[in-house]
Amino acid sequence: MNSDAVIPLYTKEQLQQRLQSLAKEAAEKLPENTLVIALLKGAFVFAADFMRALNNEGLDLEIDFMSVSSYGKSTTSSGKINIKLDCQDNLQKRPILLVDDILDTGNTVAAIRQHLTKKGATNIQVCVLLDKPARRTTREQADFVGFTVPDKFIVGYGIDYAERFRSLPYIGIPKEFADE
Ligand code: IMP
Ligand code: MG
Repeated sequence: MNSDAVIPLYTKEQLQQRLQSLAKEAAEKLPENTLVIALLKGAFVFAADFMRALNNEGLDLEIDFMSVSSYGKSTTSSGKINIKLDCQDNLQKRPILLVDDILDTGNTVAAIRQHLTKKGATNIQVCVLLDKPARRTTREQADFVGFTVPDKFIVGYGIDYAERFRSLPYIGIPKEFADE
């Protein structure tokens, strides 16, 4: 399947424009020693662009990464999160900006929030490119949201379907999911 099989939702230009306004919003609320923790793999493109948008607003932040088990080849959340790659150990007194691609049920963010708190983090803010509030099963909310989207399966700009479409420069809905 090539990228023609994906119906665009947000273009490259719309993404960049929104990222810059989001960075402006975030720069006012993030302490200077904030550690960005980006969740692999889905948030890698967003996090890279967002870091540079924050730099444009005068913030040069440190970044670390975590990887947790996610959807695999299915399209529904399992609820159980397994940490495959952890971030640096010393989070004491470190403000955190957790960056993920999509806030869906909230299971991932809830589990990571608990994990980071155990490691000593006290000030955790959450930034997601996409928010799907219709599917929330937890009380999780993001402090910074790129776009609020309907309950559709979305790919591109780092976000995959069974490891495909991460390299798409825009965000869209695979045709096979468009009519669901
Ligand atoms: P949650 O734990 O249910 O909030 O799920 C969050 C994770 O599910 C995200 O980080 C994504 O990896 C994945 N996810 C949720 N919705 C989609 C989607 O529409 N496309 C691809 N992955 C998704
Ligand atoms: Mg993910």
